[in-house]
Amino acid sequence: MNMAPTTNKKLLAWVDEMTKLCTPAQVHWCDGSEAEYKSLCDQMVTAGVFTPLNPKLKPNCFLARSHVSDVARVEDRTYICAKTKEEAGPTNNWTEPVEMKAKLLAMFKGCMAGRTLYVIPFSMGPLGSPVAKIGIEITDSPYVVVNMRIMTRMGAAVLKALGNGEFVSCMHSVGAPLNPGQKDTTWPCEPDPAKKYIVHFPDDYSIWSYGSGYGGNALLGKKCFALRIASVIARNEGWMAEHMLILGLTSPQGKTHYVCAAFPSACGKTNLAMMLPTLPGWKVRCVGDDIAWIRIGEDGRLYAINPEFGFFGVAPGTSRSSNPNALDTLQSNSIFTNVALTPDGDVWWEDMGVPAPAKAIDWEGKDWTPDCGRKAAHANARFTAPAGQCPVIDPEWENPAGVPIAAFLFGGRRPSTIPLVNEAFNWEHGVFMGSAAGSETTAANIGQSGVLRRDPFAMLPFCGYNMGDYFKHWLSLAGRTDRSKLPKIFFVNWFRKSAEGKWLWPGFGDNSRVLKWICERVEGGGKAVKTPIGYLPAEDAIDLSGSMVTAADIKELLRVDAEGWKKEIADIGSNYDKFGAHLPAAMRGQLDELKARLG
Ligand code: GTP
Ligand code: SPV
Ligand code: MN
Repeated sequence: MNMAPTTNKKLLAWVDEMTKLCTPAQVHWCDGSEAEYKSLCDQMVTAGVFTPLNPKLKPNCFLARSHVSDVARVEDRTYICAKTKEEAGPTNNWTEPVEMKAKLLAMFKGCMAGRTLYVIPFSMGPLGSPVAKIGIEITDSPYVVVNMRIMTRMGAAVLKALGNGEFVSCMHSVGAPLNPGQKDTTWPCEPDPAKKYIVHFPDDYSIWSYGSGYGGNALLGKKCFALRIASVIARNEGWMAEHMLILGLTSPQGKTHYVCAAFPSACGKTNLAMMLPTLPGWKVRCVGDDIAWIRIGEDGRLYAINPEFGFFGVAPGTSRSSNPNALDTLQSNSIFTNVALTPDGDVWWEDMGVPAPAKAIDWEGKDWTPDCGRKAAHANARFTAPAGQCPVIDPEWENPAGVPIAAFLFGGRRPSTIPLVNEAFNWEHGVFMGSAAGSETTAANIGQSGVLRRDPFAMLPFCGYNMGDYFKHWLSLAGRTDRSKLPKIFFVNWFRKSAEGKWLWPGFGDNSRVLKWICERVEGGGKAVKTPIGYLPAEDAIDLSGSMVTAADIKELLRVDAEGWKKEIADIGSNYDKFGAHLPAAMRGQLDELKARLG
């Protein structure tokens, strides 16, 4: 055990209490140093948890393979334990907090036997920024420690900044105690899905996660803290914690606008956030790819920071043509989970844009060949890479005050009905668009993929309180600043398909064409037509120069499908019914007006 490097009484008492509860073999306070990182990686290599990649191809990179049961977030096992079920709302799992605490204490009792308890001090947001918040994660997973060092600002400097202050307590165990002499596995976890628990207590800003070592279930700074708990803090303090990328878009004339976009998991945030525009002269720079904390600044505009320090990005589909900047970011100092290993010690995944290796080791550790009928990488395989390595990281990305937001985008995977881009008439209509968002589900959650579900603001799995009240919080921004200072709101859909089931829109770098129109609209230009659903680009308003998009395709991409919208309205309405009296009247009003406009 190393010495506790803090005099924070609350922290010392909590670590002491958790040590007594979990009975680890030892306690390690993480200092966040390079030496500590290296020693943990070496230890995991020795234990077979990490495979070092070829240093000539991927310097200082490692591959991990998870247990087959532990490959994504588990929304079914995620709880918001507010005092009442009503406060958690109809979209969250809920158990009475005293009852849940008792259950958790029983599970955590002795759960770290034979393991090391790591104490990870971390900051969400630039260290020392008035907007940043400090968390302490206790975990028995060295994999979590090294990932947290990439994903957050972590270590001794955080404890110094914390002093005797408050922190969000984040308790994590993989739920696999070791008996004396018992051999460890390379991915210890609780294999029974019914015994995993990802639990949030919004009343004391605390998190307890048991049984999983994967992604958002285990790296507790991310979805658990920076979204579920932070959304509660944000409501209480008058700001917003959103599942949004933040990008800066610079025109050929040199003018930059910052944009935030909320798309559900695995629906294109990382890709858009660091996109290489196909439109000549335009530049995209990345502030963040997953989470935005947003406040009203002194000038009345909205300012966003990225609370994270790294990217936990979807690997499959990441290629030189789809996302060259992500590929460049992950060339060194990165961790790969559930991708395939090539014979020369490199990584490979489906749609990487390079030919499949003649043979490989797949994500389950089995021999793989291109004709074996299995995927080499898991659909939710991920890379963990330092944000600072992104070639297009924005010069303002660590500005403690954040960047001023000119537009909010909402979106999702919608094969039909939803047009390529649609501008809201005003703030309330825009909030309605966010509340009505839907998407086909993806592999980022354990469950069925490809089914349409309502995912308001892309926050369905991440809102820490009653979502009806969350809509109200969004609406309330209009009363707290000058309306003219509010970002314009747009709904986008890169995923509309033709009758033959083919993507109508090329996506990726070509999304810059849509961003250009959004930019023009923000500046008061851009040709638009008023339709029943919002302002759509005029037929020739999207710059398609040098693209393969045909006139027929763009027409279809911008078509208002009245029949489709009727079904859409019915589905939005039945989703609204869930919220009862918590649904703001303005939202039902917007839905009725849309119905009337469509006739
Ligand atoms: P999380 O990290 O889970 O929050 O996901 P994300 O929203 O950052 O999604 P990401 O950018 O990683 O994209 C996930 C998948 O969507 C990848 O397989 C991409 O290839 C695909 N994708 C992203 N952008 C586009 C696009 O513009 N068009 C099409 N057709 N696919 C896209
Ligand atoms: C998501 O699922 O939205 C992610 C990945 O960004 S995870 O960190 O696992 O939540
Ligand atoms: Mn995400």
